Amino acid sequence: MTETASTTPTGRCPVVHFDHNSAEHAEDPVASYRKLRAEAPVAWSDAHGGYWILSGYKPVFEASRDDDTFSSERNSHGGEGLSVVIPKTPAPFHIPIEIDPPEFRKWRKLINPITAPAAIARMEQIVKFYVTKFIDDIIETGHADMTSVIGVPAIVTVDWLGLPIEHWERYASAFHALLIAVPGTEEFDQAVKVDLPYLEEVTRGIIAERRADPRDDIISYLVGCEVDERAVTDDEVFAMVDLLLSGGVGTTASLVSNTVVWLHEHQDVRQDLLDHPEKMDRAIEEFLRFFSPTQGLARTVTQDTEFMGCPMKQGDRVLLSWASANRDPELFEAPDDLDIERWPNRHTAFGIGVHRCAGAHLGRAMAKELLTQIIHRMSDYEVDRSQLVRYPHQGTNNGWTSIPATFTPGPRLLPADATSPADLATELH
Ligand code: HEM
Repeated sequence: MTETASTTPTGRCPVVHFDHNSAEHAEDPVASYRKLRAEAPVAWSDAHGGYWILSGYKPVFEASRDDDTFSSERNSHGGEGLSVVIPKTPAPFHIPIEIDPPEFRKWRKLINPITAPAAIARMEQIVKFYVTKFIDDIIETGHADMTSVIGVPAIVTVDWLGLPIEHWERYASAFHALLIAVPGTEEFDQAVKVDLPYLEEVTRGIIAERRADPRDDIISYLVGCEVDERAVTDDEVFAMVDLLLSGGVGTTASLVSNTVVWLHEHQDVRQDLLDHPEKMDRAIEEFLRFFSPTQGLARTVTQDTEFMGCPMKQGDRVLLSWASANRDPELFEAPDDLDIERWPNRHTAFGIGVHRCAGAHLGRAMAKELLTQIIHRMSDYEVDRSQLVRYPHQGTNNGWTSIPATFTPGPRLLPADATSPADLATELH
């Protein structure tokens, strides 16, 4: 899969034949990264106009902590669009992920209070409500595509932000398609040309409404924020909201979809988690490490430099593979074994450095409620492996588009017309 050559005409080396978005890589990303990591943990690939691929834990760790050399800012190297993915994808400017320190800090300061553990603890009921409702929708039938339940992170994010709930599926599919669909396909074009422009108008409309008439939601909080002693503009609020949507919609879904399929194949572990719910927190850290829902993200080199013996040039694009770092035997013993009690677990699934995931606590909380209710309420679920459908490519997010499953039917826990966590409180207690 990888074949190392000596050098390119521009002096970049070692050169490998590697493309994280290729069908070849998607067949077995773990094996593909394992080979690359062993041969050349820092290497140059000619795919996508050329990029460095960092696959060892050490290079990923070093580069993600050196924002002066490895920038997240939007630029025109390697095309136009979101700069933290390779190839770039057409997306609006995002704050704070596309801003380097020191400017970055004042923006991240606005996001931190709404994603801190205390704020996420206050969302417990809303997360529980949607998980209960989504499982209620299928529990009496005895069969379902489990991805329908895994829509929860999208609806929670839309509700939390204060966007119209009736559009949650459109937000989910459009933001998902941007990172998992193949450019040029109908799915990608529908997202980029139709759904996302429409949703941008909806989001901007809500931002304007909340500025005039604030409510108890995240958009109202953001329009009330200040930076540099001035009010945050509507464009800046949009840049933060659009990032929270793209962070919130697909990643937790990817984590849970991978875990649900794996737990079908490892029923002893499923039973262990059923008998010992206290093991779930550490198990989730291990699922994050093992599956790495965001496989890798990109940076751009700001100045000619030598990095771990490799000559990098200003403007070079660099992919930091969180997924590969998470399987590096230098840091993890038996990295290809999934051990739900692994501890400590210094995984890189949420990134490293200043841009480390702002939504980590929310992602964990949603994954925990989903997995807990799935294994308790659908304890004997069986996945039909022959009908599983993978994401079209595994370059940025990995997971399953379709997970057909059967299970013993069970009772609903909420009335069919339940609309809010208040219904949950009356029905469950
Ligand atoms: C399992 C779930 C998740 C995974 C695996 C994940 C992964 C990541 C990774 C790897 C980064 C680092 C970006 C970089 O270094 O360039 C990141 C950043 C970010 N994530 Fe997440 N994420 C998850 C859930 C969420 C959720 C639920 C939200 C919000 C609702 C969110 C919002 C963000 C934001 C705003 C950033 C940018 C932080 C910054 O630039 O300072 N993420 N995420």
